[in-house]
This record gives sequence, C-alpha cells and structure tokens, in this order.
Amino acid sequence: MEKQYKINFEAIESYEHLDAIEKTLYDKAMQIRNVAYAPYSNFTVGCAILLENGEIITGSNQENAAYPSGLCAERTTIFYTGANFPEVKIKKLFVIGAPRNATSSIPIPPCGACRQSILEYEAKQKDEIEIYFASLGGEIFKTKSIRELLPFSFDASYL
Ligand code: THU
Repeated sequence: MEKQYKINFEAIESYEHLDAIEKTLYDKAMQIRNVAYAPYSNFTVGCAILLENGEIITGSNQENAAYPSGLCAERTTIFYTGANFPEVKIKKLFVIGAPRNATSSIPIPPCGACRQSILEYEAKQKDEIEIYFASLGGEIFKTKSIRELLPFSFDASYL
C-alpha cells in the first residue's frame, strides 16, 4: 500500500516579512557567514541560534584540507551552544548559505547530518526548535521543528 508523508513549512516572502528577532537572526547569520572558513568549497554558511534567555550564538562552516574533517555551520554552532549552555533551551536556528562570490536566492536547507544533530538537541530539551533557512535575498523557509525536515528520523527511542 502506498502511503504519503506530509511535511509542513512556511515560505516567508522576503526579509521584510520577518519580525524583529527574525531579522536580527538573519543579520547575524549573514555577518558571520562573511568570515566563514571555507577555502576549499567557497560555499559559505552562517548560522544564528536564539536561546530562551535571549542570547544569540553564531557560527559558520569550518573546512579542512582533509575534507571530511571540516564541519557545517549548523553543527559548529549547535555543538558550541550545547557545550556552553547545556541547560538553556534553543528556540530558533537560522541558517544562510551561498557560494562566496555568487548571488543566490534559493533557500539552502541544512544537510542530513546537521538535521540529525539538531534533532538530538530537540530530544534533549524536550522542546521544538524553529528552523529557518535562506540564501541571499529571496524567500526564507521556516519549519516549526527539525522533524519536518527529517521524516522517519532515528532517535534514542529505538535504542
Ligand atoms: N555546509 C554547511 O555549512 N551547512 C549545510 O547544511 C550544508 C553544507 C557547508 C559544508 C561545506 O563547508 C560547504 O558548505 C560545502 O558543502
């Protein structure tokens, strides 16, 4: 029997349609993207995380000459957050990616490994994390939880 899995997301028309805190997250993700360490792919990604105490943590992708040793912006940022604010809930995660010297307006979704890592923190804090992803200009896609982006996700309940 064929079945369907429905995922939900919101397409926000443009930066102007974001609220004040969302604009701040967008701006901070953009800023840190400018100093991403991505000399091999030249694909630069910035991430901004909003904590429930109002603090904003930012990070970018960090590449390595031994390519698999590098890390995406989302995991750089969420692991730093997990290490330094272990008791503070994460409310929102905003990610912006694009080739360094190109214009792009198609929202860049988190890679599969980052989705799995973000899911772990949702499970840990027993609360959803709103995910926003964008590129330079254009629409911003938003989901209420990483689960929307990771159907059939594997978590500790299976262990
Ligand atoms: N990258 C991210 O930072 N986040 C993603 O979700 C997708 C990919 C980075 C990894 C690598 O440094 C570059 O983008 C090209 O794959």
